[in-house]
This record gives sequence, C-alpha cells and structure tokens, in this order.
Amino acid sequence: MRFGSLQLDSNLFLSPLAGYTNLPFRLVVREVGGVGLCTTDLVNARSLIEKNPKAFKLIETSPADSPLAVQLFGSVAEEMRDAALMVEARGAVSVDINMGCPVKKVVKIGGGSAMMTELDKTAALVRGMVNAVKIPVTAKMRLGWDDDNLTAPDLARALEDAGIAAIFVHGRTREQGFGGTVNLAGIRKVVEAVKNIPVIGNGDVVTPEAAKKMFNETGCAGVSIGRGAFYDPWIFKRTLHLLRTGELLPEEKFSERVRVMRRHLDLMIEVFGEELGCRMFRKVAPWYSKRFGPCHEFNKRVVQVSTQAQFEEILENYIAWRKQFLGDDGELLQRFQPAPLVASFMRDPASTLREHIPVPKGPVEVW
Ligand SMILES: Cc1cc2nc3c(=O)[nH]c(=O)nc-3n(C[C@H](O)[C@H](O)[C@H](O)COP(=O)(O)O)c2cc1C
Repeated sequence: MRFGSLQLDSNLFLSPLAGYTNLPFRLVVREVGGVGLCTTDLVNARSLIEKNPKAFKLIETSPADSPLAVQLFGSVAEEMRDAALMVEARGAVSVDINMGCPVKKVVKIGGGSAMMTELDKTAALVRGMVNAVKIPVTAKMRLGWDDDNLTAPDLARALEDAGIAAIFVHGRTREQGFGGTVNLAGIRKVVEAVKNIPVIGNGDVVTPEAAKKMFNETGCAGVSIGRGAFYDPWIFKRTLHLLRTGELLPEEKFSERVRVMRRHLDLMIEVFGEELGCRMFRKVAPWYSKRFGPCHEFNKRVVQVSTQAQFEEILENYIAWRKQFLGDDGELLQRFQPAPLVASFMRDPASTLREHIPVPKGPVEVW
C-alpha cells in the first residue's frame, strides 16, 4: 500500500492508544509481524517544541521500530508545523494529526474533535504542515460530533485539498465514545468523499474476519487496529493471511501468548527500567490473560508486580494452577475456553448478548 512517498508492506495499521502504544508494544507487534505502520501515542506539539522530556519519551524509537508515524495534537498552526519538522528530523516516516480524540482537555484547546467543526482553520493548519515537511501528513478523525453532524466526509475532502496524504477514520461519533456499533456505512461515505487518497477504517476490529468485513463493506484501503492488538498481537499476521489466502489461522496457543508476554515485559524493562517497566506492565498483563481462560489467580497478583523475578514467580504459580483446566492434550478444556471475540458490527442484532470490548482504565478513562 502507498500513500504520499511512503510504500508500506501491509495495509494494516496499529492505532494510537495513549498510554499503551509505546516503544515496547510497537516492537512486540512488529516482531509478531503483519503490521504495515505503527503510530505513537498522541503527543502535544507544544510540549515537543518546549523539549518536555515526557513528550520526548513518547516519541522514543529504535531502528527496529520502523516504519513509524508520530501523532501530534494541537491547534496552533506554527506549533504543529514546527513539531512536524522535529519528528521528521528524528526519522518518522509520516506525521499524523489527531482530529478525533474526545479527551476534554484536548477538545478545550481546539485540538481533537473540535477541529472537525472548523474546516477552514484546520485546512490552513494542515497546509502549513504539508508545505513544511517532505514526509506524508495524515489525519485521524471520528465520523463527527454526533449522528446529526457527520462531518467526516466534508472534512476528509477539505483535507485532501489541503494536501493530506491519508485519512484514518474511527467509525463512531464523539458522542458515542466507545459505545454502540461502529458505523461501516459512515466509513464508506468518507471513502467515497475523497478523490485519490487512501482512507483507513478503524474501530472494533478484534478478529481477522472483522477486518475483512470492514474492507469489503467500506471500500477502505487499509484497516487500523487498536484494542484488538492487545488481545491478540497476532491479529495483523492472521488478518494478512486471511486476506491473502482465504484461510483463517487459529488463535495463538497459550505457550506462544506467554512467550510474547514475557518478551513484552523484557522490552518494557529495557525501555523504562525495571521499577517503572514492571509498574506499567500491571495494566498490560491482564490484556494478555483475557485469552488465557480462567485467569483470576494471575490477574490478582500481576497487578501488584514490582520486579521481573516476581513476575516469573507469579507466572510459574499460575501455570501450575491453570493445569486443573486442561485436558489430556494439554489444552484448555472446551468449557473453560474464552468466548470468541466479536466486533460490534458483526454481532447478530437479535442477540441479547451484551458483549463489549473493554476500554482500558487508568490515565485513559476519559477516552
Ligand atoms: C486507551 C485508548 C487510548 C487512545 N489513544 C488515542 C490517541 O492517542 N490518539 C488517537 O487518535 N486515538 C486514540 N484512541 C482511539 C484509538 O486509536 C481507536 O481509534 C479506537 O480505540 C477504536 O479502535 P479499536 O476499536 O481498534 O481500539 C485511544 C483509544 C483508547 C481505548
């Protein structure tokens, strides 16, 4: 897949998830394979210009962390331009503008979803960035403020005229937050609104089949996956395989999940040090365990982990405890297996099942 000067090996993208899509997680996803482009957490343009160490930590990268896009937010055109120049100089292959983040503080300063209501100002901001950097500038948005104001198609068209190289669209409105169903027809309208640039669909893709349905029903050129990659860092690889061969690979086995989880912690410790890395891993490990089957013994202890040795001990104890749920073949007995994941837009409307993809808590509760 191609946008601007950028040629990507896959049309599957890792969505920015503030607090999660840090260097260790991006490396994990890349090692597993199948992802075309990863994006950083959103970064405040002004903080970058002011050389705030926390902002620099958010754009920390390594040679294996490529190709990488940095997502910026802010509403002052000069600051966005200068921050774009900074991330270009540091090796980012594209820069993404956050236009669809429903966090109050972002909306308040005129960034995030508020941008969608001010087309002309936004187009001018984009033009300033596009003219300043050589790398492609992309934009990420929601469908609009609410169902009565589905502004994304108009915004996408205006942004294309201003030089935006690709559009990422989460198929929900700001009012929806993370509830309700992802609106594939809404994404399709954005695809139809632009002339030449790729539109990348996003929202609730938790299985390869969901990605395929999003491609088929929206005509999007790529699919971006956020929370689905937490459950299943293999989702990119499995989706590419499905798209290329028509074959659906099974979900990864427990032993592979444990291997990758361990690797994730190693990388967290490398990048953040043992104390902070372990503390941050308290909110990461329970995402892995969601597909382990019975896991409360693991979760209740891992949310207190402080050292790598302690993590190993928790894991060993858990593996021993989990044996009671296994059959003779060493796999989880059918009745203990976690329910299959189903995207909001693939649920049977008649179903009374109130299944829902969790939104991580912590510093991100405002999302
Ligand atoms: C914890 C969390 C943090 C997020 N952080 C960002 C962000 O920094 N920038 C952004 O554009 N979107 C952010 N999003 C939105 C996601 O990129 C994505 O659009 C949304 O989660 C829907 O995709 P998914 O269902 O595949 O997760 C965040 C979402 C969550 C749940």
